[in-house]
Amino acid sequence: MEQFTFKNKRLAGSDPINMKPIKIKDLTWDPSIYPRTSKSRQTINAYAEALEIGAQFPPIKIQRVFNYPDADGNKTTQATIILDGNHRCSAFQEKGIQEIPAIEWKDHPLDYEKNKIPLLLESARCNTIHGDRLTPNDKKRVARDIASTDPECKYTEDALAEKLGVSQQTVNAWITDIRVRQRTNRNSIILKLSRLGWTQEKISETMGIKQQRISQITNNTSFGNICNLLSQGHNMEYIAAHYQMDLALTWAIRLQGKTDQEKFKELGWGLRTWDQWNFNECDERFGDDWPGRIPAQLIAHTLFYFTKPNDLVLDPMAGGGVVPDTCLLFERKCQAFDLAAQDKQDKRPEIEYHHWDPKKEAWPVLKKPDLIFFDPPYYTKKKKEYEQKANKDIPSISSYTKKDYKQFFKDFFTLAHKNAKPTTTLAFLNADWRDFESTPAAEEKPDKAITIFDYHSLLSETGWKTIFRIECPLSSERLTGNQVQKMQDKRILGTIGRTLLIAKKLTPPL
Ligand SMILES: C[S@@+](CC[C@H](N)C(=O)[O-])C[C@H]1O[C@@H](n2cnc3c(N)ncnc32)[C@H](O)[C@@H]1O
Repeated sequence: MEQFTFKNKRLAGSDPINMKPIKIKDLTWDPSIYPRTSKSRQTINAYAEALEIGAQFPPIKIQRVFNYPDADGNKTTQATIILDGNHRCSAFQEKGIQEIPAIEWKDHPLDYEKNKIPLLLESARCNTIHGDRLTPNDKKRVARDIASTDPECKYTEDALAEKLGVSQQTVNAWITDIRVRQRTNRNSIILKLSRLGWTQEKISETMGIKQQRISQITNNTSFGNICNLLSQGHNMEYIAAHYQMDLALTWAIRLQGKTDQEKFKELGWGLRTWDQWNFNECDERFGDDWPGRIPAQLIAHTLFYFTKPNDLVLDPMAGGGVVPDTCLLFERKCQAFDLAAQDKQDKRPEIEYHHWDPKKEAWPVLKKPDLIFFDPPYYTKKKKEYEQKANKDIPSISSYTKKDYKQFFKDFFTLAHKNAKPTTTLAFLNADWRDFESTPAAEEKPDKAITIFDYHSLLSETGWKTIFRIECPLSSERLTGNQVQKMQDKRILGTIGRTLLIAKKLTPPL
């Protein structure tokens, strides 16, 4: 609430010429365009109070768009999205006011797909100059979102710094890892696939390059001496950019031949000795920004305790690729799949397209894995984000009904059991899912939740015996003070637990 003052019941900038009232129910709040990750309850309350004493607010800013993905993922819908004024809309709605004054940014509808970055930047610019100022974290998210969708680097660090009102060094620190990955060259992709265990034949087919050439590249490519560059004071980001490699591969080459424990040390990761693995945040050097991204440290610990170098790891739902990245570091082979793999064919060819529908019994894995690291969606958490990457013929399991979702796992665990070795380990990560947003703990209905005990039962029913239950909690800092207060007032018990179940095959299955 920086610049709005309620003194004269008329707030700054409230009468531009092209202002018109618009129905709030016709507006779309698009989290991928809007720079703020959460709404502030305090701001909404303050605006609602101001409305009561008759304050007039400056118009919100909106934009009509077409080519907007509808709920089924078809990109044909039109929408009017909010660029600025989300808190004002909420306050109006809470006061029962159905229309709000609005101005349009551009006076003609824009192609959403082609204008995502300009829309995000305009929204960030408005939110930077007034209203509740954006937090550094919100700005960082905007900068990273833009950098990841801008592989040609049309938006320089300088331009982003100006729009977001921060220094160029700050933008640099936020997005270096993304830019490094974008500059990766073809040879390094070939090396990466080869290190992950891809045959030359498969690399040749995927990259459209003759097998003989693949063999030359994997045998002869030299990346000089990384240690020399380090001793000259250069950091790993610099070295990766120098060789046009992604950061994970650069680290893998630096760590090559060291023991797992030495690798933990060099990466700056404390090695946990007990079955409680707390990590404050994801290590942004490894894996891409992805909804539901998990820390590389969590995977490194799983590799450390349950595999050895050269073992084959299967990641059925690989998302942003943190499992293959960590396998590279620890010299494990990896085969990774996701239904959203087409999105990232250029940058992450190691993630192959596969839509798991275990009823069809398709198992695209070439060799029997030593470890299956399975991090599926936690039921409907992030449903909207995954739906944007899937479509109605190839749905993410986060769109299933509860019954179908559970059946999916029963079928998947059965299929995995059939295709695994007697010694294969299954590492399954998930969290309790409950409708906790609005229900006091004592009123939770038993059939409402899906908990770790349900997954444990499904594993047992399909021939897997859980041998470890490792707690890997999420951080509670994702919630604002206001949200916590609201939960406490309503006696809602939040969930930050996340559990890694480690299971082995019971042979024969029960
Ligand atoms: C929790 S995310 C994985 C995140 C990943 N471990 C990371 O850290 O980036 C789950 C993934 O499952 C994928 N997915 C959901 N249903 C699928 C299906 N039926 N077949 C293949 N992938 C699916 C989604 O696209 C999503 O990327």
